[in-house]
Amino acid sequence: MRLYVNIDHVATVREARGTDEPDPVHAAFSAELGGADGITVHLREDRRHISDRDVRLLSETVRTGLNLELAATDEMVLIATELRPMQATLVPERREELTTEGGLNLASTEIRSSVEAATTRMQAQGIRVSLFIDPVKDMVSVAKTLGAEAVELHTGEYANASTSEAHARELERLHRAASDALEMGLAVHAGHGLTYANVTPIAALAAIEEVNIGHSIVSRALTVGMKSAVAEMRRLILAAPSRVREPGLWVPPIGY
Ligand code: PXP
Repeated sequence: MRLYVNIDHVATVREARGTDEPDPVHAAFSAELGGADGITVHLREDRRHISDRDVRLLSETVRTGLNLELAATDEMVLIATELRPMQATLVPERREELTTEGGLNLASTEIRSSVEAATTRMQAQGIRVSLFIDPVKDMVSVAKTLGAEAVELHTGEYANASTSEAHARELERLHRAASDALEMGLAVHAGHGLTYANVTPIAALAAIEEVNIGHSIVSRALTVGMKSAVAEMRRLILAAPSRVREPGLWVPPIGY
C-alpha cells in the first residue's frame, strides 16, 4: 500500500499569517524523507491554502509522485495540463465547505460530463486520473465508464462513525466498493478523515493500493516536532550576546 501525504494544512498555517513559512515545498521534502510514497495537494479555486506557486514548485521538486486534487473546471484542468503532475484526483468543491465533504455526484449528467471532459484532457497529457467518490457500486461503475484509471473511496463516513455498529457498517461498505472497483479493473485509493487511530482496518483491505492522509499527519508533525522547534528557539535566545550598555548602534557580532 502506498502512503500519499496531503500537505495542504502546512499551507493553511502559512496563510494564517500571509507570510512565507511554513513552506509546503519543504514539508514535501521532509515527508519524502520520512517515507511518503507521494505528495498530495488540493489547489482550491479560492486558493485558501495551496497556491499556484506551490503546485508549480512541487511539480518540479517532488521526487516520488505528485497527486494534484482539483475540481473539474476549465481553469484547474488548464493548470494540470500545463504542470502535468503524475496523478490528478478530481474532487467536488464548494466554496463554503471547510473540507471536501463527499464524493463526486456522478449521478448528475452535468457533473459526469465535466468529469469526463477533464479526464480526457488530462489523460491526453499523460496524467493518471483518479475520481473521488463515495463507496457505492453505482458510482464505481460510472467512474469506470468515464475512463478513469483509479477511484479514491471517500472514507469520511467511516472516520465519523460514532458507534461500533456504524464503524463496522462503513468498513464493510468500503470493503465491498473496493472489491467491486478492483473487479472492474480500477485501481483503488482511499482517503479523508484517516487518522493514526482508524487507519489500520483500512490498510488491511487488500483491494486498496493507496491512501491519502493529510490533517492527521500534519497535526502529528506539529506535536512531535514541537519539542525540537522550542529547543532550537531557546538555544538561539540563550546564545544571544547580552546587550547591557546604551546608547549607540548595536552591531551584531560576526556570525550572529
Ligand atoms: N482525499 C481527498 C480527496 C481529500 O479532499 C482530502 C482532503 O483534502 C484527503 C484525501 C485528506 O483528508 P484528511 O486531511 O482528512 O486526511
